Formats: sequence, structure tokens, C-alpha cells
Amino acid sequence: SNDPLVVFTPSGKRGRFPVGTPILTAAQQLGVDLDSVCGGRGICSKCQITPSFGEFSKHGVTVHADALSEWNVVEERYKSKRGLKAGRRLGCQAKVMGDVVIDVPPESQVHRQVVRKAASARAIQMDPAVRLYYLEVDEPDMHEPTGDLERLKRALKAQWDIPEISTEFSSISLLQQKLRAGHWKITVALHKDHSSALPKLIAAWPGLHEAGLYGLAIDLGSTTIAAHLTDLETGLVVASSGIMNPQIRFGEDLMSRVSYAMMNPGGDAEMTRAVRDAIDTLAQEIAAEAGVEMTSILELVFVCNPVMHHLLLGIDPVELGQAPFALATSGSVRLTARELDLRSLPAAAQIYVLPCIAGHVGADAAAVALSEEPGKSDDLALIVDVGTNAEILLGDKTRVLACSSPTGPAFEGAQISSGQRAAPGAIEAVRIDPATKEPRFRVIGSERWSDDPGFADAVAATGITGICGSGIIEAVAEMRIAGILDQSGLIGSAEQVGSPRCLPEGRTHAYMLHDASAEGGPIITVTQGDIRAIQLAKSALYAGARLLMDERGIEKVDRVVLAGAFGAHISPLHAMVLGMIPDVPLDKVTSAGNAAGTGARIALCNVAARAEVERMVGEITKVETAIEPRFQEHFVNASAIPNAVEPFPELAQ
Ligand code: FES
Repeated sequence: SNDPLVVFTPSGKRGRFPVGTPILTAAQQLGVDLDSVCGGRGICSKCQITPSFGEFSKHGVTVHADALSEWNVVEERYKSKRGLKAGRRLGCQAKVMGDVVIDVPPESQVHRQVVRKAASARAIQMDPAVRLYYLEVDEPDMHEPTGDLERLKRALKAQWDIPEISTEFSSISLLQQKLRAGHWKITVALHKDHSSALPKLIAAWPGLHEAGLYGLAIDLGSTTIAAHLTDLETGLVVASSGIMNPQIRFGEDLMSRVSYAMMNPGGDAEMTRAVRDAIDTLAQEIAAEAGVEMTSILELVFVCNPVMHHLLLGIDPVELGQAPFALATSGSVRLTARELDLRSLPAAAQIYVLPCIAGHVGADAAAVALSEEPGKSDDLALIVDVGTNAEILLGDKTRVLACSSPTGPAFEGAQISSGQRAAPGAIEAVRIDPATKEPRFRVIGSERWSDDPGFADAVAATGITGICGSGIIEAVAEMRIAGILDQSGLIGSAEQVGSPRCLPEGRTHAYMLHDASAEGGPIITVTQGDIRAIQLAKSALYAGARLLMDERGIEKVDRVVLAGAFGAHISPLHAMVLGMIPDVPLDKVTSAGNAAGTGARIALCNVAARAEVERMVGEITKVETAIEPRFQEHFVNASAIPNAVEPFPELAQ
């Protein structure tokens, strides 16, 4: 035909369209990913495009400056009121006049890619469950006595080609007032995920809703709750924040919370209320920080371990404390903020809880699998999410195995005599001179080592307050390297070690890292009890990993990925000196940051990823550490530093 040729970049899609066809229409017909909320009315600006001029030999097109229609009134009005970047046009207003090459900038793509920061990570492809639709609804009149909802549905069909939606009563009651407040112009939010039959009406605003659309990706841990407020149109995290899990007062670790529920009638309900209130508070804080209205937060995705999963959902966790560790459900759970009684969020906000892998391997491990994709790895990867409970995955393209291991809170600085959370003032890195046995260290909040000039000034503001998880790991490993500790983990006396820093403490010894008592600060020591706590934690971690390796029938993994908010700060060398992780070349140990949180973000931004994680979980082999006798054996052997029986040849180098 003689119709002009329209070529879209970066997709390369092309087609011929009659003169006068709006670019948005051409894009929609070709399946080009060009956004629109207002349906081509020139008010939402989601459809912005950049026409290119010149010669495009690759496409066989020469584009003249008049290939698009002149600015019309609607576009002019938009530009004068709101402004448009240079070279940009509104795709719904600009019409095809001749051969043209049209670039769709990333902001105008619904399915844009959000590049993640961590090097190993996959990009997040946007395909959120919630989308906005602007509508002009017919006014009611005496001759046509239809309901508001029916007229709204008619507008959805006519203006957006959406033939049917589902509704809940609560959303219907909202429509009446909003339709009238917006003079029959309204923006509705429809939610449709991988398992919905129909899009569901979940929110409405008078006129064009311009305050955005947000979701929360929540990593609900035993110790902390972390939330990432995510813009569902761009995929960017606009604010992240954390809060202590208030259930700590019912028990530090998961099993003590399960016992609390067993011993105290109503104890599970109490813990459920506490964690929901904390989530509510966190949601409000994070929204306030980012200047986002609570009414714009329409979806929450949760990842958590099985006990937290049950306590969040209000299901008695007692079954998880005893064999056969049956979950109420291992499948994903979909519900609403109203059903979870999250009072600060819109009642119809949608909630998706990732599936669990098994009674001890939760949705957090599933999220790590979604983020790190061990099932797509060519080499054999061991992924360790270090927390109060360690989630461990081992796999490659052929098979993925998973387990969890109760490491306890020592790696997070808890149950350590001078332990504290990772915060300014905490010792985070330690080196000990093997000859003099003298330590030097670094404190969170300063780049300087303690023997650098200016260190005292650099830490004056915070002081030196304690030692955090990564600090204690380095301290114990360095003590072993310097010969202050023997292989069994025993701290030597001042005479044995040859250092006045080895102080007697009861019948054991403690190594003094820093004495701030002259400045009114604490004396920071590593005690024999601290060493034992770290030995227990690292043995549990290693035994879990080793059990998966047995199951797979291998002696060595190809690479190790340390994940978890805290895992990112662990030094691979020190982890290996301790025997926390199996022996691999040091350059094969990488950090994935908070992989569970990333998995939650991926599921929040992309509905296909939800189907993917549900399928993945079904294919993962679960290994139950609690009933496996070899776990005990590995655990005992791993108590030595690095290990009583296993060689660590890479360490020798
Ligand atoms: Fe809304 Fe073009 S589609 S401004």
C-alpha cells in the first residue's frame, strides 16, 4: 500500500497506517508497549514519544520533519500547562503524516526494565497487577435508569475494551461519591494477576488520578521487618525502611515463639496482632517519608519464613514446631488488607504472600530462588541467606535443593556480650596482627581504621559502642588466624598467647578488642561465650549446606552466594576461615544483597514472576534438617574452626 510506514524503536515493530492515524493507535495495533492511562485524551502524558528525523538506512526510511501532524490544541494545552521535554510529543495526539521512526522512551513503556544495582542480579521486568484507567462515564438520566456501576462498566468496555470486571461491595459504595466529585470523570484501579479470572475494581479517584500507584515489598523476618515502597509505574523503590519485629518480646527465635503459642492460650493471636500493627506503623512511616498517600498503596507482597507466614496470616504455628512440620498451606496466598486487618492501608489493597517450599523452608527461600535463579545456573551454586534462620539453596539447571538451618541471632550481633545491631558506632571489621596480637578495627560510619591518624575524631560523634554481626565474624576468624584461639575454639591465656589482651574471665578467657572506659565508653571484649555462640551459628549454617551437598552427592560447589541484608557485609575470607561456608576459591564467593527482599520486589512488579515462583517451588527438592541424623554429625564436625574433618584446601593458599 502507499500508506506511510511507521517504525517503532527500540522494539523494531513496524507497519503501514493511513495518514491521520494517531501514533498511540498504531502502537496498540502493532503491540508496541506504549503506556496510556487516559485512553488518548491528552491528559495523562503517559504516551510520550520521540519522533526521529533523518535517514534510517537500517529501516529503509527517510523521515521528513513533517512526518507527524502539527501540534493540536490538546497537545499545546498540555505542553503549556505541564510542559514536555524537548523533542517529545504526546503519542495519542501526534498523527502519522508520512514515513516516520518513533522512539518509545523507557518511561512510556508499561513493561520497562528496572535495572538492579547488584552485579549478579536480573533486571526487573515491569508487569504489575494493578493498573490505572481513566474513564468518562455517562451521567445518569431519567430516561435511562441504570446504576453507576453499570454505566462505569459500559465505559470500561467502550473506552478500554475491558468487557467484564469483578467488584466487591466495598468498592461499589465508593463509586457513588467519586463519580459525582469528578463530574463523571474517574480513574479506577483494576487488579489482575496471574490467577485472576477477571480484573477486579479495587480503587477509584475523582478525575485523573495523578498521585501515582505504589506497592510495598515486605521482607518479614523473625528479627526485623523491612519494607520497600515501590512505584508500580516505574518499578523504582522510592523509600525503604525497617522496624524491629515486635514479636521478639514473645521469643527471640522462631521456636520460642511457637512454644509461646503452645503454652499461652491466645498467644498466637497476640503475636499476630503485634506483627500486623508493626506492619501498619511501618507502612505509614515509609509513606510519610516518601510523601506518598496511603490511598495510592494498592498492593503488598510478603516474603517470610513459615512461622512468620502463619503468624502474619493468623494461623496457629504450633504444627510447625513438631514433626511432620505441616504447613496450613504451602501455596501462595492472596487476600486483602481488610482480611489481614491492616488498618492504615486501603481496605481493598491486594496482598500476595509467596509460596513456601516446606515446613521449615519458607516464602523467603522461595523469594531468594526467584531473585537468584539457581535453577538457571550453569555451574553449581550454593546460595546462603544468612539471618536468624539461614535459608540455603543448592542447585544448577538440573536440580535445586533447599533447606533451612536454625543459626540463631548470633550473626546479627545478638547473644554476643558486646553485640549490637549494625548501626553507627558498631565495630564492623577487625584485623589482628599475628605477631603482636594487637587488633585494629573499623567502625560503621567511618572509613578509617583504628590505627589511622584522625580515627578518634572520625568516631567522636558516635563513639565505639559495640560489635555487629560482620565484626564478630571477622574478630573470631582473625583470632583464629593469630593463634589466639585454638582449633576447638578455646581462647588461650595471656601466657599461652603472649598477649596481655587475653584476660581471665571466670574459668575461661576473653580477648579485649577495645577499652573505651577512659572516655566513659564500654570495654569491648570477645568472650569464650561469644566464640561458642558463633561456633553454634556457623556449624548450623555449614551443616545445612553440607547436607544439601550430600543429598546432591558432591564434595565441592562451584560458587557461593552470600545473601541477606547482613550477608552482604560478610567478608568471604573470614567466613571461610571460620568454616561457615564450604571451601571454594575466594573469587567464587559473591554477595547478592538482600535477595529475599529483591524476590519480593520482583513478584510485586511482575505478575508472571508469581507464576514462575509458584512453579519453581514445586520443582525444588526440600531437605528437612531437623530429622536428618547426618545433620547432627556435620554440625558436630563443623564446631571446630574451620572443621574437624573437612579439608579447606583453598584456605591454604
Ligand atoms: Fe494520555 Fe496520551 S494517552 S496523554
